[in-house]
Amino acid sequence: MSLLLIAKNRDFSSLEKALLVKDPNLDVEIWPRVENKERVHFAVCWNHPEKVLGNYPNLRAVSSLGAGVNHLLDDESLSDDIPICRLITDALQDQMAEYVLNSVVNYRLHIWDYYENKKKGVWEQKSTIPIKYSPVGIMGMGEMGTNVATLLAQQGYAVSGWSRSKKDIEGVTSYAGNNELNDFLSETKILVNLLPLTDETEGILDLDLFKKLKQPGYLINVGRGDHLVEEDLIYAFDMDYLEGACLDVFEEEPLPNNHSFWNRKQIMVTPHIAAITPAREAAKVLVENYKRAMSGMDLLYEVDRERGY
Ligand code: NAP
Ligand code: GLV
Repeated sequence: MSLLLIAKNRDFSSLEKALLVKDPNLDVEIWPRVENKERVHFAVCWNHPEKVLGNYPNLRAVSSLGAGVNHLLDDESLSDDIPICRLITDALQDQMAEYVLNSVVNYRLHIWDYYENKKKGVWEQKSTIPIKYSPVGIMGMGEMGTNVATLLAQQGYAVSGWSRSKKDIEGVTSYAGNNELNDFLSETKILVNLLPLTDETEGILDLDLFKKLKQPGYLINVGRGDHLVEEDLIYAFDMDYLEGACLDVFEEEPLPNNHSFWNRKQIMVTPHIAAITPAREAAKVLVENYKRAMSGMDLLYEVDRERGY
């Protein structure tokens, strides 16, 4: 029985090492060199080639190498009865909270304007936007969103969260469902997207939504690129619905060289790095789930296929 790591353009050497430290008897294979496809019982995937999973007839479970699973749910070659799980670790949650807090502070301090001014040798002082004028709204109050909301609330921000079901989190106002989306948006100046990508959430970040924020708003997208209607972001700047955006995820990744976002002053681009699980922590969860899958037990962080997350 083997555990297979599959990804395009990824160096798996540290993860392979960490997996073998955790369990020296584990048989780890790295795609595309797979000696015996029939022996693959557990696959770990990130940005994997379309339909590749159909090549492994004896899969018992599949794990994402991250928190998101849209790439696995979209793979038609994966049969419906194979459980899908994902990686959630403290490091992933902490990195995400740190990324979002930093993005919020950079916005309030006009850090990106100073960065542009430095290139031109311009000395121009701007007033820092006070915390009290910077209410943050988080779409998606799951493993990531809850941690982000808690940190921001501890820092003194007015924080709201929007999810499908109501939450009870100290210092955070909870809004739930489509009926409460407009109320949530009207309380929000800085919008953080941490929704999973599903049929319901694809394209949710559009002009109509930006119009409903406290204006002008600021967008932090750390969910998925397909949540955002990219051309609407530009219209939202033109209409002054938004004054800036910090984007970590994109419709196409890597973001193409000729994409207009690179040259937009209002947009900060990071290359999908908001939260990346360190190999040692990832190995801990993967080995546990591999063992569970081999002995027919329930998996940690199993995804509800019907819900899509
Ligand atoms: P999660 O634990 O599954 O939480 C998802 C949250 O979204 C839940 O609160 C859920 O509501 C809410 N939700 C789902 N569909 C909704 C809808 N139609 N309307 C309103 N709320 C809805 O997910 P997570 O672990 O926090 O991760 C969220 C996403 O972040 C991932 O899917 C991934 O795309 C992204 N991510 C990005 C990075 C990065 O480096 N950029 C790193 C990690 C994760 P309920 O609680 O009511 O079910
Ligand atoms: C990263 O995007 C993740 O889903 O963990």
